[in-house]
Amino acid sequence: MSNPQPKKGLWSKPSKKWLLGIPLGGILAFILGAFALGGFHFGMTYTNNNDFCYGCHVGMDTIVEEYEASPHFTNTKGVVAATCSDCHVPQEFFPKVALKIGASVDIIHMITGKINLENFESEHRPRLAEKVTHEFKENDSKQCRYCHDVTQMDFENQSRNASRRHQTMEARGLTCIDCHAGIAHKLPE
Ligand code: HEC
Ligand code: HEC
Ligand code: HEC
Ligand code: HEC
Repeated sequence: MSNPQPKKGLWSKPSKKWLLGIPLGGILAFILGAFALGGFHFGMTYTNNNDFCYGCHVGMDTIVEEYEASPHFTNTKGVVAATCSDCHVPQEFFPKVALKIGASVDIIHMITGKINLENFESEHRPRLAEKVTHEFKENDSKQCRYCHDVTQMDFENQSRNASRRHQTMEARGLTCIDCHAGIAHKLPE
């Protein structure tokens, strides 16, 4: 008995031409996958997790260690007061998608290994801190206000200094980040 002839089609031996398609196809799939992070609900929920952010930021910079030592992670109440995305990802759908697509570019940076523990402080932190600070100033510290509402503050029980500043900040055209820069991370030197 002779072996049955393999069926043509899906399982037939790929032609050379088709094989050439693999690298390009692979790269395309990778890029689409990265962009899809911004689009799918699953991606959205998963990527809002601290673990996801830790995946790259641990070992690349000292951001996670600083955050974990800060009052939004370590405090007398023992609650995680704010995750990375609470402060960095806008809640509205479209800004969120836009930001995630922007962040997909980070993946490409990471793969090229541009940022590491040696060069983060001197070459990258100043630029990144400035970018994020600018965003907070532009949007009037919007993410802070998801949780903190000045009109809810008990001024009687705040220090005189804090109470006075919070009550006058609006009139003085100041926003949270003007006084609370470095709330979760070290500031650039
Ligand atoms: C795939 C790796 C990777 C993941 C996952 C990741 N980051 Fe990043 N992140 C980077 C890289 C690389 C940079 C530096 C980008 C640059 O040099 O412009 C960066 C920069 C940033 C910045 C600086 C501002 C900016 O827009 O570049 C913030 C804020 C940030 N990440 C927050 C987060 C948060 C929040 C998460 C989780 C939701 C997260 N990152 C997940 C790799 C990652
Ligand atoms: C309480 C809000 C808050 C939390 C939580 C937070 N950040 Fe930030 N982050 C900021 C602010 C504000 C800045 C702007 C610079 C500054 O004032 O420190 C910033 C700046 C950054 C930068 C730019 C580099 C730098 O040193 O300024 C990166 C990267 C970043 N954050 C990533 C993260 C990641 C990853 C997490 C979670 C591990 C996180 N952040 C948690 C508020 C926060
Ligand atoms: C997801 C909610 C959330 C977000 C977003 C958030 N915070 Fe907080 N923040 C808290 C909670 C809860 C506490 C109280 C933690 C505790 O029990 O000590 C706190 C504490 C603080 C404190 C007091 C810290 C101390 O030393 O005791 C300051 C100042 C503060 N936040 C400023 C900010 C600023 C500025 C931003 C935006 C960059 C921000 N927070 C974003 C929930 C949040
Ligand atoms: C003009 C400066 C200024 C601005 C603007 C400002 N703060 Fe404050 N804030 C202070 C000072 C000063 C303190 C008390 C000293 C400290 O703990 O850093 C304080 C304390 C706090 C505390 C701790 C209060 C307590 O009694 O435990 C929180 C929370 C806080 N600020 C949140 C915010 C948020 C959110 C915004 C933006 C809506 C904001 N602050 C804007 C100056 C300011």
